[in-house]
This record gives sequence, structure tokens and C-alpha cells, in this order.
Amino acid sequence: MLGKLIHLGIDAVLLSAFLAGIKRSTGLTPNLTQVPNKDVRQLLRTYLEVGEYVFDFAVVIFGRSTSFERRR
Ligand SMILES: *[C@@H]1O[C@H](CO)[C@@H](O)[C@H](O)[C@H]1NC(C)=O
Repeated sequence: MLGKLIHLGIDAVLLSAFLAGIKRSTGLTPNLTQVPNKDVRQLLRTYLEVGEYVFDFAVVIFGRSTSFERRR
């Protein structure tokens, strides 16, 4: 049960980081004005912010690693 929750949480964070990557490279981001509920909209905004945080964190880690090199 707990393992399943953790798995779901990791999947959610990965999806959010993926969306953050798309936003960083293309500027495309989910149109949150389509969400009618204010609280749900705020929740989704926070969710996307977590993804951007994770994305930035990964960029810092990869940037320091010699296993990755910058190509542009
Ligand atoms: C986002 O959704 C709103 C509400 O449906 C809509 O009015 C708006 O045009 C959408 N934005 C874009 C860029 O499509």
C-alpha cells in the first residue's frame, strides 16, 4: 500500500518534471484557466512548480556531472 503510494508519487513528479521540460524548451504549458475550480487550479499550479523545481535540480546535478556535457 505504502509502496504503491510512493510509486504513484514518483510517477506524478516525473510527469510534472516532463511538463516543466516542455515548458522550458518550448514555452508550452497547460492552460490552467480552463480549470473551473479555483482550489484545483491552485493545486495544479503548485504541482507544476514542483516539476520545475525538480527539473532545475536535475539540470544542476547533470551540469556538475562529467557523464553529461553541454552541447549548446
Ligand atoms: C485557455 O483557456 C481559456 C478558457 O477555455 C481560453 O479562453 C483561452 O483562449 C485558452 N488559451 C489558449 C492560449 O488557448
